Amino acid sequence: MDIALVTGAYKGLGFEWCNQLAHLGYKVILTARNVDQAIQAAEKLNEQDLVVYPKKLDVTDTSDTQELFDWANEMFGRIDLIINNAGINSGTRAKGDKDLQLANLSIDHLAKSEVLSMIDINAISPILLANTFRPLLRKSAKPIVVNIGSWLGSISIKKNGGNYSYAISKSALNMMNRAFAYDVVSENIISIVVNPGWTQTDMGGQKAQFTTKDSVKNLLENVIQKVSIGDSGKFFNYDGSAHPW
Ligand SMILES: NC(=O)c1ccc[n+]([C@@H]2O[C@H](COP(=O)([O-])OP(=O)(O)OC[C@H]3O[C@@H](n4cnc5c(N)ncnc54)[C@H](OP(=O)(O)O)[C@@H]3O)[C@@H](O)[C@H]2O)c1
Repeated sequence: MDIALVTGAYKGLGFEWCNQLAHLGYKVILTARNVDQAIQAAEKLNEQDLVVYPKKLDVTDTSDTQELFDWANEMFGRIDLIINNAGINSGTRAKGDKDLQLANLSIDHLAKSEVLSMIDINAISPILLANTFRPLLRKSAKPIVVNIGSWLGSISIKKNGGNYSYAISKSALNMMNRAFAYDVVSENIISIVVNPGWTQTDMGGQKAQFTTKDSVKNLLENVIQKVSIGDSGKFFNYDGSAHPW
């Protein structure tokens, strides 16, 4: 059985990744920064006889990452798929403004810490996690790292101002992934960014276009089950097409 690791997985898209991967026969490591939430979420899948292991992981916490690595190394000695799903989209909460706007950039401490923490969680930590797990990825016949990006991270399709927070963090993820993909291509590790589309979650809201079920199914069928090493470093849309940078 292949082994998958999913971050930020007790709800939303992350939980659905665990659900569908487990139904496909993966052993799934379901992680969340609050371990009780991970345990409760895993129980829902274990009740269906799916093989899901709850684990604590705050993606910005290197000691969490190392502990998880040591456990996975001992338990499986291999990882086949990492879904770097954890992400935030908060912005200036005080103003009720999800996506940081130019006028609010001067709220120095709040704005700066919000932006930097978003870049850390959404762009830097996913690649650091993948890098830590490289020794286990190398043991897989076809190791894949999937970084959940967004159309909002695309520079070429941006046609309005604002969103100095989430959008720039997802653009940074694209570049982090591109660099990482070249650095690990000789190890046969496939590392890609995908856009799940606007999806019904706490982040996407209930008016979004896709259910989590459809969003994950699209990415599994159109991208993940088809990628090869020649695709590493690319940015894919949910329909399998190349997403504009
Ligand atoms: N929904 C959409 O329309 C949409 C569109 C494009 C891309 N995305 C991306 O899809 C991914 C999943 O988002 P979602 O829509 O499912 O939103 P969500 O329901 O808000 O889930 C986000 C998850 O990330 C976790 N998380 C945040 N910071 C973390 C950290 N430091 N360590 C570990 N986990 C952390 C959250 O846990 P806590 O509750 O503990 O914070 C939560 O479980 C994100 O990367 C998002 O940017 C979503």
